[in-house]
Amino acid sequence: MMEGWQYGLLLNLENKLPTRALHDLVTLPGQKPVISYGPPGYSASLAAPGFLGRYLVSKLARMGTQVVVPYRDEDEKRHLKPMGDLGQIVSMEWDIRNEGQIAECLRHSDIVYNLVGRDYETKNFKFADVHVTGAERIAKRLVHVSHLNASANGEERVRSVFPNVTVVRPATMFGYEDKLLNNMATWPIWWKLNFGETKIRPVHVIDVAQALANLMSTPQLTRTVSLPGPSTLTYEYLLELVASVTYRAPSRAPVVPKPIALAVARAAQMAWWPLINPDEVERRFIDDANVPGDWNVVGVCPDEVENHAITYLRRYRLAKDYPRPVLFPARPT
Ligand SMILES: NC(=O)c1ccc[n+]([C@@H]2O[C@H](COP(=O)([O-])OP(=O)(O)OC[C@H]3O[C@@H](n4cnc5c(N)ncnc54)[C@H](OP(=O)(O)O)[C@@H]3O)[C@@H](O)[C@H]2O)c1
Repeated sequence: MMEGWQYGLLLNLENKLPTRALHDLVTLPGQKPVISYGPPGYSASLAAPGFLGRYLVSKLARMGTQVVVPYRDEDEKRHLKPMGDLGQIVSMEWDIRNEGQIAECLRHSDIVYNLVGRDYETKNFKFADVHVTGAERIAKRLVHVSHLNASANGEERVRSVFPNVTVVRPATMFGYEDKLLNNMATWPIWWKLNFGETKIRPVHVIDVAQALANLMSTPQLTRTVSLPGPSTLTYEYLLELVASVTYRAPSRAPVVPKPIALAVARAAQMAWWPLINPDEVERRFIDDANVPGDWNVVGVCPDEVENHAITYLRRYRLAKDYPRPVLFPARPT
């Protein structure tokens, strides 16, 4: 079966498959010659190796690209190394406030993916430090990952420094390490805010990773690429989906009024590990932007959440329910 990135290459007729050149052959004294391979792009820097990052590293490594991974915590990048050949995944410690370290991390890369993001503020980093000021410092052939609903402010600041930036705006992603299906399975009460009526367009993290990897083989796109999932679904439907796939009774938790939710979220922020933060509470009331998807530009066809729900949710089943069939609730019309 054709991989998404191969399809992307085919779609892009002007972009011929790379031919080998003399400089692809590296010979070191006393060692075997090494032939570099993969699409032109050759080296990518990927800041930072979170949920989406791990899938993108895997895609890029399979394409033969060398990947530099700036990281802060040893344990956050350890799992990435076996995704590539020896020396293919290079991790480098960095601080997003240190311009020298940023330059060190990015200087050998032909393309930079900025995946730095955080959905809560910390003592050291406010939202603007991470999404605006930090992003402003990173430049090259830059792919800046934002969110479908993000304000254009941060993106405009990045574009003012780097006019050729490709801004990618995925909707909320689902996958093994997501904060969507996992969170719904463990804390359904927080998804009942707004009576579960908020509508989102969930997208598979693998599809977004493939879309980002395909950008390696397309000519530079200086536009915004929106990547919503194929369907618009309410939180209520998604909670029902989680309950039916996990064979757990649907939550009977009451709907928490917004002011109370905000007060709890403010108090929770004082805890060492925030359970929910005020910004998240506000977001639970905001529908995903109703903009058309740009999947044809990146050569990927996004998949429905139902097709993957069991993969990510089976672990929430009781042992006796493990082998039971997968049942879906009826989709609201
Ligand atoms: N998850 C979604 O559903 C979703 C949907 C649409 C868009 N996005 C966007 O996609 C991007 C990646 O999302 P994700 O879900 O992969 O996020 P994630 O798992 O939380 O990973 C975020 C990465 O950013 C790094 N980071 C955060 N604050 C930093 C700082 N002050 N300095 C340096 N590194 C910092 C983290 O490093 P540490 O591990 O060291 O903290 C981590 O590697 C983000 O921009 C996010 O806004 C996400």
